[in-house]
Amino acid sequence: MGTSRMFRVFVVLGSAFMILLIIIYWDDVGASHLYLHTPVSPGPKIPHPAPAQPRPQTSRTPSFLSDIDAFVNQFLEPGTGEPTDPVPADTSNQSEKAEERYIPRREWKIHLTPVAAELRERQEQRRRLLQEMCANDSVVFPGKNRSFDDIPNKELDHLIVDDRHGIIYCYVPKVACSNWKRIMIILSESLLRDGVPQRDPLAIPRDLVHNSSMHFTFNKFWKRYGKFAKHLMKVKLKKYTKFLFVRDPFVRLISAYRNKFELPNEDFYRRFAQVMLRRYANQPTPPASVDEAFSVGIHPSFSQFIQYLLDPQTEKEMPFNEHWRQVYRLCHPCQIQYDFVGHLETAEEDAEHLLRQLRVDNVVEFPTSHRNLTASSWEADWFSTVPVEARRELYKLYEPDFRLFGYHRPDSILNE
Ligand SMILES: *[C@@H]1O[C@H](CO)[C@@H](O)[C@H](O)[C@H]1NC(C)=O
Ligand SMILES: *[C@@H]1O[C@H](CO)[C@@H](O)[C@H](O)[C@H]1NC(C)=O
Ligand SMILES: *[C@@H]1O[C@H](CO)[C@@H](O)[C@H](O)[C@H]1NC(C)=O
Ligand SMILES: *[C@@H]1O[C@H](CO)[C@@H](O)[C@H](O)[C@H]1NC(C)=O
Ligand SMILES: *[C@@H]1O[C@H](CO)[C@@H](O)[C@H](O)[C@H]1NC(C)=O
Repeated sequence: MGTSRMFRVFVVLGSAFMILLIIIYWDDVGASHLYLHTPVSPGPKIPHPAPAQPRPQTSRTPSFLSDIDAFVNQFLEPGTGEPTDPVPADTSNQSEKAEERYIPRREWKIHLTPVAAELRERQEQRRRLLQEMCANDSVVFPGKNRSFDDIPNKELDHLIVDDRHGIIYCYVPKVACSNWKRIMIILSESLLRDGVPQRDPLAIPRDLVHNSSMHFTFNKFWKRYGKFAKHLMKVKLKKYTKFLFVRDPFVRLISAYRNKFELPNEDFYRRFAQVMLRRYANQPTPPASVDEAFSVGIHPSFSQFIQYLLDPQTEKEMPFNEHWRQVYRLCHPCQIQYDFVGHLETAEEDAEHLLRQLRVDNVVEFPTSHRNLTASSWEADWFSTVPVEARRELYKLYEPDFRLFGYHRPDSILNE
């Protein structure tokens, strides 16, 4: 009897001791975790207690208890939709920063309503369509049957990886890609302003957004991980949330043309417009610079741009430029199982749903665009100058994109 009671007392005391150990250990892990993930310049190691909050006397426990406080406060704060961001955008006071390190970061909002069934169903359908089209042998395109291991390294340069949140984004130029790249930069917290991570997507200058040194893409894995790169990529592809945004392929081409050839762009003028003018506009010596060309009103027509895309010579010289390269060649949708497929046509709803699914809707918002987007209703006008035969050939060139992502064959412009 006596020994059994003693035994029970020991068990209880032992358990209490273990729990104490766990609490202390948890405290350390929590603190170092936050420290690692907060790339502010190292300030004082010991936090100053916040003046307003009463603190317990034990030296081990303050940050643990303040974690709990912060956690509980999340539920008590009024649901104004105001981000409860522990890193204010423009304070740079060292002692305040040291304080922040001990507040756990919640990057998502607490929502009282689930994502609309309609939006979830829409994603389900888009993912299912991709699977069906990848399995359907009547949908044929180069590279469809290869395995992920056979994809050359340089073709993985459009997959941007964010290890902090476990996100992979395949960017498709002309499909809101600047804005999504901005969001990836913000999530990576690699861009600091006054010592704290930049939080406003539109404050990031354009040339920085498209500077590849700002983005950690899969093709850079080789430099860093050598022969383990492919293995590591596969692990990340399995664990992370992968997304891309697409739009109607023909409308994307119109948008590319308007942006690169109707506006003066020296780089595109030299690399592409001069070639088109020489080949299809009877201009053996086109103006030397884009300013000269625009001052005399010369630029390739939309029809010449399409002719350039259909010319077998074009691909022989170099692969399509990313602004008009097919999405199936940029993002490998049959090798990578995307978790989220956004459409530009439903960009705002999709963006909100996606940021919520990624659990980062507290730190970033998708910037709403006030520019005039290229609209599908203009398609007939734009293609009116392109011969019907060329339109059909162009459709063949982009048919996999139409089918993989559920865009209807534009019968009205193909059957004339
Ligand atoms: C930071 O705040 C402390 C007190 O809150 C103040 O003494 C100090 O001057 C501030 N430092 C800066 C750089 O603003
Ligand atoms: C494959 O696509 C064709 C249309 O090109 C369709 O008729 C067929 O039913 C599809 N096959 C499967 C198994 O879905
Ligand atoms: C892919 O494989 C299927 C059979 O599994 C075959 O019918 C098709 O021709 C192959 N496509 C390519 C592009 O190799
Ligand atoms: C991209 O950024 C790096 C460093 O941030 C800079 O050295 C490089 O010149 C930039 N490239 C372009 C094309 O702006
Ligand atoms: C957008 O389109 C409308 C009507 O089509 C036009 O009046 C307006 O000037 C356009 N805005 C810009 C910025 O191009």
